[in-house]
Amino acid sequence: MNRLKLAGITICLSLIIHHSLVAQQRPSFHFTTTKNWINDPNGLVYSNGEYHLFYQYNPFGIGWGHMSWAHAVSKDLVLWEHLPVAIMEDTVMIFSGSCVVDKNNTSGLFKKEGDQNLVAIYTAQHTNKETQAIAYSEDFGRTFTKYSGNPVLDLNKKDFRDPKVFWYEKQKKWIMVVSLPTEFQVRFYGSANLMKWNLLGEFGNQGNIDKIWECPDLFELPIIGEPGKTKWVLLISGAHPKKDFVGMQYYIGNFDGNAFTNDNLANEVLWLDYGKDFYAAVTYNNISASDGRRIAIGWMNNWAYAGNIPATEWRGSMNFPRELTLKKFHDGYRLIQQPVAEIKKHRKEEIHMQDIDFPGANATLVTTWISDNSYELEIKIALNNAEDVSLQILKGKQCFTSVGYNKKDARMYVDRQMSGNTSFSPHFASLDKAQLKCINGVVTLHILVDKTLVEVFGNDGIAVISSQVFPNEENLGIQLFSKGGEARIISFNGWKIE
Ligand code: FRU
Repeated sequence: MNRLKLAGITICLSLIIHHSLVAQQRPSFHFTTTKNWINDPNGLVYSNGEYHLFYQYNPFGIGWGHMSWAHAVSKDLVLWEHLPVAIMEDTVMIFSGSCVVDKNNTSGLFKKEGDQNLVAIYTAQHTNKETQAIAYSEDFGRTFTKYSGNPVLDLNKKDFRDPKVFWYEKQKKWIMVVSLPTEFQVRFYGSANLMKWNLLGEFGNQGNIDKIWECPDLFELPIIGEPGKTKWVLLISGAHPKKDFVGMQYYIGNFDGNAFTNDNLANEVLWLDYGKDFYAAVTYNNISASDGRRIAIGWMNNWAYAGNIPATEWRGSMNFPRELTLKKFHDGYRLIQQPVAEIKKHRKEEIHMQDIDFPGANATLVTTWISDNSYELEIKIALNNAEDVSLQILKGKQCFTSVGYNKKDARMYVDRQMSGNTSFSPHFASLDKAQLKCINGVVTLHILVDKTLVEVFGNDGIAVISSQVFPNEENLGIQLFSKGGEARIISFNGWKIE
């Protein structure tokens, strides 16, 4: 039996910052637009065999502005068809929000009942206030009409935005969770018809309040291994574990149709992603119409540098869609995040290695296998005597992105300090770490690499780091390192993703 051994080595790297300007590379299995600026995913809804992805879009340029809802649809969350802009700014900008299928025509806005009836609930951004408004579509989201009675909710507040609406079957009513960003609060409203909303409850000033609260989402999840038991999860976009950035936190508790109660102590903070590039993520409505999964998409960027990332024609990407599940650990219930299974259908040219002798400590591994940087890796590592094991990906002459695990730290990490072009923002070069326990000395890293996007899921998704990088296109190297002792790769699976 071949055994993969890595002798302990120390790697010496010349810290030359790479300033070269590279041509813009388009990720192949992550969503991007073909032209202009994008930010938050909006109106995620499944209907009639299609996953809709609306998103914050500037129809006129590569920087933020003129916010409108652009639109794409997919049958498998991987291949997207771009459609015309769905809701254009007029005297107000169209900020983030959600979409529901008003199958039973509760709003009375439609001629008939059915799956074609979509209602978008969005924030209208006026010069001095934000209100909630609706628009409706009778053609599966291809065209929308703004409701003549807008706004449907107006508190006369400057910051009041990002309504997430869903159907609450137990009390047969619509629920809206919407944010008062500067008050670190979300409010819950109820409605029978999507037009008239009553205040039900509020939640706030818990967890982290270092930054404004935006883009809330609220949903119920079954608990893995506890049949019949569920918990409610509240997502908030706002602060990040590192202070200059934005990120996402979540709360676990209960929702009784009026208010959310947090199971954890008010000062406990649960982060979703320890990378810099996962923000404004919300989940799909109406997937119960298919398989009932809870699927989230985030904007793979960070307001700290989003306006500066290298771009010529288009700017910004979405994270690969993730399935969210809940599991109990010794310290409580935690979200598990995993790339949606649909990725498997796009896997090509598998490479599989197991218990093989690795020829040398820093020998190049499988560089000949890839022809471009859109691939998926699943690596199971027994740390043995090693202190640190890492994989340098997107590796060229003087650049690489390091994805690894440090035993003493008990953390997995993504280091993009040498990843290529980092000079466009002082905030970009970074080393991001996420706590992750070895299980019997073994760590699993599931890595999605797509040209300029890297997402790492540790131990089946208990910790995640999402990171943009800007290497040269020809940086195709993958190299494995161990420090301080020998490690063993139990298995190394790789696939090109088409
Ligand atoms: C979050 C956000 C939302 C807002 C939108 C505007 O990234 O600030 O709160 O609706 O972006 O584009």
